[in-house]
Amino acid sequence: MAPYTMRCIECGKTHDMGKPAYACSSCGNLLEIEMDTAEAAERIEKSDFQERPISVWRYRELIPVDPRSQVLSLREGGTPLFDCSRLAKKLGMRSLHVKFDGMNPTGSFKDRGMTVGITKAKELGMKIVTCASTGNTSASLAAYAGLAGLKCVVLIPEGKVALGKLAQAMMHGSTVVSVKGNFDQALEMVMKSSETLGMYVLNSVNPFRIEGQKTAAFEVCDQMGGKAPEILYIPVGNGGNSAAYWKGFSEYEALGQVKGHPAIRGVQAQGAAPIASMFEGKSDKFIPVKNPDTVATAIRIGNPANWKKTVRAIRQSGGKVSTVTDTEILNAQRLLARHEGIFAEPAGAAAFAGLVKDIQNGVVDKDAEIVCVSTGHGLKDPDIAIGQSTKPRVIEASMSALERLVKET
Ligand code: F0G
Repeated sequence: MAPYTMRCIECGKTHDMGKPAYACSSCGNLLEIEMDTAEAAERIEKSDFQERPISVWRYRELIPVDPRSQVLSLREGGTPLFDCSRLAKKLGMRSLHVKFDGMNPTGSFKDRGMTVGITKAKELGMKIVTCASTGNTSASLAAYAGLAGLKCVVLIPEGKVALGKLAQAMMHGSTVVSVKGNFDQALEMVMKSSETLGMYVLNSVNPFRIEGQKTAAFEVCDQMGGKAPEILYIPVGNGGNSAAYWKGFSEYEALGQVKGHPAIRGVQAQGAAPIASMFEGKSDKFIPVKNPDTVATAIRIGNPANWKKTVRAIRQSGGKVSTVTDTEILNAQRLLARHEGIFAEPAGAAAFAGLVKDIQNGVVDKDAEIVCVSTGHGLKDPDIAIGQSTKPRVIEASMSALERLVKET
């Protein structure tokens, strides 16, 4: 068997990895990359990967790019796994860890997938790259396209992308297209454009993106001293990252690098929760949400492209998907910022909001080894942060005015 095979998740048909592909040519379902774990185990045994600094490319033997390819990197991954003892104590938990992927080069986990996706784009000889985005994918793709010298076109839903993300996409020189519609409509356009305009799609339907993102799970296990957590909370939008984490945990287990794996608990915003509906018994069938809405604009998605992949992954892990309200998300964002110094954007606080809710409802073991994934940095969305914080106090430039204010507060 080849070290890697690209396969349809439904009918199993194999596809040529040397050509751009996002869906099965027979049945139209999602594609994924399968690793020959016996062969990979031999490969990593001979490597010194545990000696390398923690990062996406520390695991390069487990990433399906040509070893001769020039890797395009901005030093992604190697993000901290914070021991959040203050919040653990507040919630009555034995311990709590937060994997803060907002500390990637462009401020979100997307960089893990993008370094691999762009390296692949160059390998395949692509000239134009594209994506639809709620913001972070476009920021990340724009940065890596700049680094690679590739033309980049990003489609975003008009008026619904946080300011910081928009600034990034524009500053890195991509063509930013504001679509009068939502993310789901923009993604539909991008998928069609891949056929008609020959653009390489770097949304999470691109299986190479997932291969980069799975390294976050490897990192979590290594940062926990070779142990897998018992439960992992993660926000779910398009469903790519949760599927990627599961792929990472299962591969690491199959490779004998770690014993066991966590149950994945996905968290969706109440106004954009088609996957949670399937787990909450509302419907067995997947039913897209027509007009998704949430303060966490990153996960304002009604028709997640990876729903099949992530539903399967979360079920296999023994986990589930639940919802949180916008108020719960903003509360969680403030708790992380004020008690642990972690400034997450709203979607990056959604997983923690899900944990707080489960603790309050008594449906999670407070003694379990729990990791929450925080996916994006708070500076991405300054409007939301400013809108819910105390305004600066204006005083005269005098010491007495300062003294009065300090005594008051
Ligand atoms: N958190 C953040 C900060 C995100 O930007 C996203 C997705 C998610 C969570 C959800 O991850 O889609 O893999 O389930 N953002 C995409 C974008 C859709 O366009 O930036 P997912």
